[in-house]
Formats: sequence, structure tokens, C-alpha cells
Amino acid sequence: MQNEKELYFKYLEKKGLKSTEQRLQILETFLEMPGHFTAFDLHAIIKKRIPQIGISTVFRTLKLLEECGLAKSVKISEEEKSYEYNPTHHHHLVCAECHGAIEFIHPTLERIMDEIPVEYGFIPSDHKVQIFGICENCQKGAKVEKGGARVQENISKVFERDVLRLFIHTEERGIRFYHSHLDCFKEDWSRRLFLALVNEEKHHLELLKRQYQKLVEENDWLEKQPRFFIFDYDEVATAFRRSSANFRKTVAGEEVEMRTLKEAWFMEKENHEFFKNMAEKLDDVGKRLCLEFARDENHHMQVIQLAIDNLERVRSDPEQRAVFLEQLEQEILQLK
Ligand SMILES: [Fe+2]
Ligand SMILES: [Fe+2]
Ligand SMILES: [Zn+2]
Ligand SMILES: [Zn+2]
Ligand SMILES: [Zn+2]
Repeated sequence: MQNEKELYFKYLEKKGLKSTEQRLQILETFLEMPGHFTAFDLHAIIKKRIPQIGISTVFRTLKLLEECGLAKSVKISEEEKSYEYNPTHHHHLVCAECHGAIEFIHPTLERIMDEIPVEYGFIPSDHKVQIFGICENCQKGAKVEKGGARVQENISKVFERDVLRLFIHTEERGIRFYHSHLDCFKEDWSRRLFLALVNEEKHHLELLKRQYQKLVEENDWLEKQPRFFIFDYDEVATAFRRSSANFRKTVAGEEVEMRTLKEAWFMEKENHEFFKNMAEKLDDVGKRLCLEFARDENHHMQVIQLAIDNLERVRSDPEQRAVFLEQLEQEILQLK
């Protein structure tokens, strides 16, 4: 609220407009409006606080709020413009019959949206994607009130749910990798290293599952909600498979132990980057968790790197074996 207020009043000042009590009250009401609403919807609510307020003031305010980036407009019907306050970037599917708006975000779409302006040397400030059509309920002939189709009340919760599902997926993939490669090693230390890593990933998974459980228990409406964050698991899996297949080609010449260590290192690197990127898109608990995991995965990379170095050095100089093993032992002990 404080940030929004500052942003708005700074913008008013730039436009040579005064920051009045009435303007503050309108801003407060606007920030509390759920979902998508028209100027008339907002006017109806504000009138309870400021009885004398006219609709034209509300129109003007919404225009200002849109200009400074706090309000986003959505074209839900031909006649009226709808607005929303939702800091999580997203797009809409708009139903022509019930005027409901389904919200979504798709990483591939975002990537494309970033790529297009680069092609033209264009500096983008924002983008909007809207898909028009008929929603599932209306296709079935269900009688839904205007604006009542699959309203995703608290989109940030749905987002959190979807992201958690994806994280769980990622950690499960890591655990599977370590489990299936435990027998690749002749040496006892590398086997123990993988066991220690699998334990850390299990700890990650445990934390994630607990948070997921807590989230859906506190919000019993949540599990039934359609996805907001359309992250295609198969697409992710294919991308991982593709990049690790390429990587595998480059390490194909190595013998099995070295190759396995390098593959593990590569997987940890991908996980690290994934959590680091996601941290930028999340706030609060999600951000903290992502940063913590990104740090852990980075540590995993370092420990594996150390093992790779050890393996190389010990092979060229067997005398050093004891020293290196001792060093690695310390690292293994530091894992949870
Ligand atoms: Fe992890
Ligand atoms: Fe890891
Ligand atoms: Zn509909
Ligand atoms: Zn929206
Ligand atoms: Zn977008």
C-alpha cells in the first residue's frame, strides 16, 4: 500500500495535480477491489465512502491509475472497459457470454514476448494478450452470472500452488537421478557423496510438500482452481532431457564415474538457475524458499566439482589420494 501510494502521488505531482484526501480514498478503494471491474463497479463502492463523488471523477482517476501502471485494463465487453489491480503479470481468456475472465501466464509466451521487440530494436514497456471466446461453463449451457465464470479469486495463491507443483517435480527428478546412478561407482566415497546429495534433495522435497499441504489446507477452494501458471511438465522434461542429452554427448568419452559426476553437476546447475530465475518472479515465502534452494543447489554444484577435481588429481597422482579424500569427506559431512 505504501509503495502504491508513493507511486501514485509522485505521478500526480508530475502531472501538476494535488494529492488530496479524496484521491487517497479512491486509491485505497481501488486497491481493495477484487478481480476485474468497471468504472461503474468501482463508483458503486466508492459512493459508500464519498457519497457526493461523480462517475466522471472515477473515470478520470482510473485513467491516471492506468497511466502510472497501477491499474491494468482488460477488454471484457464491447461497451465498457474493465480494470484490475494485480501486481502479478498475467494474461486473459475472456468469455463473450458470461464476461468472465480466466487469468494465466505461460513461460513460453513470455519468452516470445521478450524476443519479438529485440528483432525490431524496439524498447517494450508492457504487453497484453487476450484470447476471446466461450468458456467451458457457457459451452455446457450453464447459467452463469455476468462475470461469474471461474473467477480466480486470489490469483497469487493459485500461482503459488502451480509453482510449488513444479518445484516438487524438479526435486523428484533430482532424487530419481541420484538413486538410479548410485551403482555407477566403483569407489565408496562417490557413492556416499550421492547418498548425501539425495538426502538433501529429499529434505527439499519434504519442505516443498509440507508447504503445498499447508497452502491447500488453508485454502480449500484452491485445488479445484484451473491452472494459472501453465508450465508444461512434459515440455520441461523434454528441455531437460534435450540439454542433458547434448551434455552427455560432450562427456561421452569419459568413463562412467567421471561422466556420472559431470551429469550430476550439470543437473545441479540447471536446478540452481531455475530456482534463481523463479526467485525473481515470486515474493514473500516463495522468494525466500527459492533463494534458499538456489543457494543449496549451488553448494551441491561445488561439492560435485570438488569430487570431479579429486577424481582427476588422484588419478594423476595417487600419492595425493588421502588428502583429497579427507577434503571431500569434510564436504560430505556439511551436507544435511
Ligand atoms: Fe534441491
Ligand atoms: Fe541439488
Ligand atoms: Zn462464459
Ligand atoms: Zn486479470
Ligand atoms: Zn506477458
